[in-house]
Formats: sequence, structure tokens, C-alpha cells
Amino acid sequence: MAFLLFSACLLGHLTSASSLSYHVPERPPTNSSGPLAAAPVGVSMEFFTFPAYMTDVAATKTCLANLQELTGIWPPLRIGGTTQDRATYNASSNQAVTYSVSNPSDAPMTLTFGPPFISMAADYHGETIVGLNRRLDNLSNTIAAATLAYDEMKNLYAIELGNEPNFYTSSDPIADGKAWSPAADYASQISWQDAVCGNLSTSDLISAGVYFGTEPMNIAGLTAEEGAANAYVKDYCSHNYPQSASTADLAKLMGHSDIASQIKPFASEYAAAAAENKPYIFGETNSATGGGGGISPTFGAALWILDYVMQSVIMGVKQLYFHQGTIGNCQYCWWGRYDMGAPYYGAYLATMALAGAEQIAPLDSQDTAYAAYAIYQHGIPVKVLLYNSDYYTSGLRPSQTFTLSGIQTHAVSAKRLTAPYATSRVDLGENPTVAGLTFENGTCAIQGSETVEVTTVSNGQASFTVGASEALLIYLQEADNCFRRV
Ligand SMILES: *[C@@H]1O[C@H](CO)[C@@H](O)[C@H](O)[C@H]1NC(C)=O
Ligand SMILES: *[C@@H]1O[C@H](CO)[C@@H](O)[C@H](O)[C@H]1NC(C)=O
Ligand SMILES: *[C@@H]1O[C@H](CO)[C@@H](O)[C@H](O)[C@H]1NC(C)=O
Ligand SMILES: *[C@@H]1O[C@H](CO)[C@@H](O)[C@H](O)[C@H]1NC(C)=O
Ligand SMILES: *[C@@H]1O[C@H](CO)[C@@H](O)[C@H](O)[C@H]1NC(C)=O
Repeated sequence: MAFLLFSACLLGHLTSASSLSYHVPERPPTNSSGPLAAAPVGVSMEFFTFPAYMTDVAATKTCLANLQELTGIWPPLRIGGTTQDRATYNASSNQAVTYSVSNPSDAPMTLTFGPPFISMAADYHGETIVGLNRRLDNLSNTIAAATLAYDEMKNLYAIELGNEPNFYTSSDPIADGKAWSPAADYASQISWQDAVCGNLSTSDLISAGVYFGTEPMNIAGLTAEEGAANAYVKDYCSHNYPQSASTADLAKLMGHSDIASQIKPFASEYAAAAAENKPYIFGETNSATGGGGGISPTFGAALWILDYVMQSVIMGVKQLYFHQGTIGNCQYCWWGRYDMGAPYYGAYLATMALAGAEQIAPLDSQDTAYAAYAIYQHGIPVKVLLYNSDYYTSGLRPSQTFTLSGIQTHAVSAKRLTAPYATSRVDLGENPTVAGLTFENGTCAIQGSETVEVTTVSNGQASFTVGASEALLIYLQEADNCFRRV
């Protein structure tokens, strides 16, 4: 893997006005995360467009493979979204999907999918969640599709029964002309879990809940009703979009303490799932709904992904599936047919930070703009992630110095995630870099030569400068090699 060779080892020592000090605990401290999943950063693909991502978008395979190379595990995939609840399974169709739209940037209002859809999902090497329809109230149709997925997909992780049922209304077929309420949804979810798992003679299969946000329906309410049906549940799932086009505020999206406040309401959802001995996931998430409000394709959204992943896994979220929507009409997408999206750079560094990690601990109190995390493997700290979430859009770039103590080596290496500004976008020519590397438009191939910064350690202490709207991943164990080469 040529791109892992250190082509440059810089001795980094810049100066800055203010300074923060953190001790890196020798063992995971009490506020560490639980055991981490092997691949916490995943991808969600909108149901109707999943086949097109796999067959018509050249970057898809390499963008996923780049993440696989970091962890050894293909990123988990979820196939679903609004159009899963518009889709009907057609066992006699030889097409993956059949639909028509008047404009290629539209999502279809109705569609069918055939067995080739499931075969395509079975071809993916990572664990996969398939989202099936509940809204149209065709239980036997969903059971037919679930049976095929269960039989054919060795990579099947879970099945969803409906998408964001908190948005169902009394006019949806599943409501049967009655008001749709939390109680109606809980009863419906449980009876569908019974019927699907009963017909398959299996348990531990359903990704349950699938609620957007935490009100009015939530995981705490659903788990209270599950009873014996909890055995059919594989995990409990929430969707989270911090912002919408009308509330778009990039400084707030990427702000470290803002992220802490934004995810706080989900802590009780995690606790409800954990009380039932089930994992809790963000099965669909991204920065902003309704076209992204201009903030979604920016480097600030990449920084949001990075810090949001760390804070979420510390809270107990097992995996986060970042949604990829309509090809050619998707502000928050990580890649497209022509250009890369800046957010992918954040997903890449987040995956790199957590690759091989067993636990992560917050070193700061999550109430300022500055974040420090210690990342543990085999019980000892192996990496530290620093993040300066000050919002930077013009002029001289301010920076923050982080002084770490408790480092056991003589020199450490670091990889920097940066871009000209928080507002930078790939399609406008302001490419982010991660350790000096970029991802090629249209293919997602890694390009450039890697830049690793080396910092000397004295008396267990070293200082690092992180510019406003930048992050730095420090490898505590690996620098001596690189250092000798300088
Ligand atoms: C199912 O697919 C078959 C084969 O293409 C087609 O003839 C039939 O009309 C489809 N049924 C529906 C309901 O779309
Ligand atoms: C439900 O799905 C079955 C096929 O699984 C189909 O024959 C039937 O027409 C569907 N019912 C409705 C109301 O769409
Ligand atoms: C199988 O599904 C049907 C609905 O299609 C349902 O009525 C039946 O109860 C299910 N069987 C079992 C064993 O759960
Ligand atoms: C975690 O614990 C450390 C002490 O080990 C403390 O300084 C830090 O503020 C804590 N952070 C959070 C978010 O609990
Ligand atoms: C990607 O394409 C855009 C133009 O659409 C260009 O400005 C940008 O520099 C390209 N990025 C890379 C990494 O080649």
C-alpha cells in the first residue's frame, strides 16, 4: 500500500496564543466508551438508488474500500429511507428496481424491486441492513422480501420494518383510517416483528424503532411495550439530522459543545436499548435535511462527522450510517459521479482514528470548542485525537495549542485534517486534505504523498498546534521510525 509510506516527516512546532493541557491516562478512565465496534462508521443508501450507486457510480466501490483498508472490515451498510416505504417487492421481476420520475433529480413516489435487488445487496462484503416497507400495510409482501433476503444474504445484519414511522399519518394504509399515534406504532411494530420472525422461524433480526429524532415516538416507549418480542430485535435504531435547510448554521453544526448538546436527547434512547441488552445505532444520519441549506457539502460538515462520531460512540451508539441520497441531488453525499464531497474526509479520519481501537475516552469536559480524545487498544493509549472547532472562514487562521502529558515515547507522529476554511467545498476547488492526501474526483482514489508531522516528547510532554477548524490525529506509538528518517 504505497500511500502508507511516509513521504515527508515534518517537525511541527508552531506557536499560538492560548494553551490547553491534558494528561493521557495510562489505562481507560471511568468515562471511556464501552467496547467499540470494529467499524463504527457506516453508510446508508437511499432504497431506490442503491442499485445505481453500485452499478453507475464509479467512486462507490473505492470510497468504501478506502475505509475497509483502514479497519480491515467493510463499512456497515444500510439500504433504506423514505423510498423503502414506497417500494413493493415483485418476485417475478428481473429488474433490481423499476420506477419512473419526470426529473432525474427526483425520488420516485412509487417503485417495485425484484430479486436482483437482493442479489446485489448480497454481493456487498460488509454487514448490511435492509429496510422493508410497513407503511403500505402489505405484510405478506414484506415477508416475501424478508424471506429472500434472509435466505440469500450471508451478510444480512438486520431488517427494518418501515422507515421513520413517526411521520406516518392516518391516511397511510398501515393506519387503517385511524389516527397514527405512538401506541399505534408500537403495537404495529411488535405485531410485524412477530409475523416476520415467526414466518422465518428466527429471532435477533429486526432493526427496530427507526424513528427520526426522539419525539413523539421513541425507543424508550417502544422497549416498554416489546416484552417477549424483544427477542426478535437485533438492535434499536434512531435517525438523527442535527439541522434542516431552514436552520442551517455551520458554526453550530461543527461546534464541539454544540454537538454534545445536540446528541444529549439520544442518551436515554441508548439506555433503553441497553436495558434490553440490544445495541443502539444511528441507522440513518447526516448533517441537514431538505437540501442541506448550503452547509452540508462543506469541510465544516466533515469536521462535524469526525467529532459527532467520537461523541456518539462514547455515548454508546454502536454504529452510525451516514445517508447517501439521490445521485446528482445530494448536498451531504460523500461522493458523486463527478466530484468528491468534503464530508468524506471527516469520515475517513474518523475511521482512521477508531481503526483497531477498543475504547475511546474524552479528555475534555465537552463544554468548550476544543476536544481531546484518548484512544485505547489492548488497554493502553495508542492515539490521541485533537479537534479545534473554532469556526474559521477568512483572515488569519487562529490556532490552539494542546499540551499532552503522560506520553511514553520519545517522539510521536501525527496526521492533520485541514482545508482552507470551514466553508470550503471540493466542487469550488478548495480541497480538504488528510495527512496531505486527497481523493480523486470521480474515482475516490487516494492521491498525493502522505505528510506525517513528527513532534518530540520531553518528560512525557509534547505540544501540538491545531488551527481553527482543523483536527489532528496523533499516533502515540509509531513515531520513532519516522523520526529516524528525518
Ligand atoms: C412484476 O414483474 C413482471 C415481470 O417484469 C411484470 O410483468 C409485472 O407487471 C410486475 N408486477 C407489478 C405489480 O409491477
Ligand atoms: C401485496 O403484495 C402481493 C405480493 O406479495 C400482491 O400480490 C398484492 O397485490 C399486494 N397488495 C396490495 C394491496 O398492494
Ligand atoms: C406469517 O405471516 C402471516 C401474514 O402473512 C401471519 O398471518 C402469520 O401469523 C405468520 N406466521 C407466523 C408463524 O408468525
Ligand atoms: C472525563 O474524565 C476526565 C478525567 O479523567 C475529565 O477531565 C473530563 O472532563 C471527563 N469528560 C467527560 C465528557 O466526562
Ligand atoms: C474536483 O473537481 C473540482 C471541480 O469540480 C475542482 O475544483 C477540485 O479541485 C477537484 N478536486 C480534486 C482533489 O482534484
